[in-house]
Amino acid sequence: MLQVRIARKAQEALDIVTLELAPVEGEHLPAFSAGSHIDVEIRPGLVRQYSLCNDPTEKHRYLIGVLRDPGSRGGSVAVHDELQEGQVIHISPPRNHFALTQAPHSLLLAGGIGVTPILCMAERLAQIGSDFEMHYCSRSPERMAFRQRIAQSGYAGHVHEHFDDGDPAQKLDLPTVLDAQPAGTHLYVCGPAGFIDFVSATAEQKGWGKERIHFEYFAAKAVDTSDDGSFEVQVASTGKVYTIGRDDSIVSVLAEDGVEITTSCEQGICGACITRVLQGQPDHRDQVLTDQERNEENWFTPCCSRSLTPKLVLDI
Ligand code: FES
Repeated sequence: MLQVRIARKAQEALDIVTLELAPVEGEHLPAFSAGSHIDVEIRPGLVRQYSLCNDPTEKHRYLIGVLRDPGSRGGSVAVHDELQEGQVIHISPPRNHFALTQAPHSLLLAGGIGVTPILCMAERLAQIGSDFEMHYCSRSPERMAFRQRIAQSGYAGHVHEHFDDGDPAQKLDLPTVLDAQPAGTHLYVCGPAGFIDFVSATAEQKGWGKERIHFEYFAAKAVDTSDDGSFEVQVASTGKVYTIGRDDSIVSVLAEDGVEITTSCEQGICGACITRVLQGQPDHRDQVLTDQERNEENWFTPCCSRSLTPKLVLDI
């Protein structure tokens, strides 16, 4: 973990604050790429993931934007109410499971606070002169974070704003936007789960391959656990076999025996626990791995995923 000071806490939009995090020691923070997120320890035992939304060439600070969401598990409200300017907190180094790929054209879609990694991507694409178009949906102008920053940027002409409470003519017409994209365009979407699901499903219906659709969820989707049963996990390095009960997670059972797997979100969205499977077929329950990572590279997330076969052998 890294120690950082909250150099600035500012109201960015209605119910949205930004925190500027500066190094406590030295002048530089670890480098990051567009789409990265960090774990933030809001207080002991309360850790949440937030995307970095500053220019990825900056080394003297990280910037995060946080929406107050009283319906969430309490992290965002604690950021708003408890964290103060000047306070020193712990964060993880940046991780990126939502990285830009090389594409002739990129379509960036942001829903609400999902703009944070998307904004970082826009900055990066503009810097390297890569062609892109961004659509930013918000409930209303006063809830739209970073509106001024975008308006003052050199890429403002690439950004289209859409408001739920505005004229129907300005609302996002996703099928038309998708149809207008040049061949080979890659799509990046972040926002509420319903927004991501709608965008992904619409693009797939229009024939976009999954390898061209990239997304990042902020929260785990509900999973039907009524058919969950027990299964076995074997640790390849020791040969030891563990029984995972229907209410256990793989990570918790292994931890009881001193086999530690790094975790953060424990709900399949951050990628901290990703582990390779050597034998057996996982029941994937994450929202972070791609089909290729799951099916060809045999990665899975032991914090939340289970098994479709009686036993999994893990590369640990
Ligand atoms: S701990 Fe976040 S995906 Fe497993």
